[in-house]
Amino acid sequence: MLSFFKKRKITIAIDGHSSCGKSTLARDLARKLKYVYIDSGAMYRAVTLYFIWHKIDIHNPDEIKKALESISIDFRYKRRKNLCYLNGELVEDDIRNAEVSDLVSDVAAISQVRKKLVALQQQYGSAKGIVMDGRDIGTVVFPNAELKIFVTADLEIRTHRRFQELKIRGMEMSFDEVKQNLIKRDHIDSTREDSPLCQAEDAIVLDNSHLSTKEQLNAVLKLTKLHI
Ligand code: DC
Repeated sequence: MLSFFKKRKITIAIDGHSSCGKSTLARDLARKLKYVYIDSGAMYRAVTLYFIWHKIDIHNPDEIKKALESISIDFRYKRRKNLCYLNGELVEDDIRNAEVSDLVSDVAAISQVRKKLVALQQQYGSAKGIVMDGRDIGTVVFPNAELKIFVTADLEIRTHRRFQELKIRGMEMSFDEVKQNLIKRDHIDSTREDSPLCQAEDAIVLDNSHLSTKEQLNAVLKLTKLHI
């Protein structure tokens, strides 16, 4: 089966709401295909973390411009994972904390921020052989991606998954707080002016509410086979 996938490298764009399993799917898929995996949400989170650390006023375009000039984000493959670095510092855990999760949608709505990150994401994808997940990957970052998947899942199920994930990380949040955070982020992400979350016309919808991670991976591998 793998030799089949060696035939032609393509670009795979995976979009969808918060905590619907996009990253797990994208990472599993990249591993299977031996492609590069980029979590574009991590990039928005890294910028948010920098803004928090440096007390950047997110309503001040001049401050944002200066801050963006001082930010460098990269990924390094370690421990079988593509880990996010901010100005050379490993920030994989910090970018998942509650403070970042609370502010990141507001930061991701800033056009100056999007402009910088989209350019970087397009550079990563220039050689193809990439799986990227986010909110605007199939619509803005890679509108010509050969395969676009729009992942969705029931809100209760997404809340449950996120709640479990945070518990494992030792972060204390009630089920309802997690749910309200997802609702808030989905609302901001879908209604912002610049590149709102929406399904690309040529995206295939995958509802994984009742699929295991293995089942969703197999479903997308079948689709990938059709596009290579
Ligand atoms: O996937 P995530 O929850 O880690 O993403 C964090 C935030 O970044 C989320 O609120 C939406 C935003 N985001 C975005 O606007 N565009 C992307 N391509 C990826 C994430």
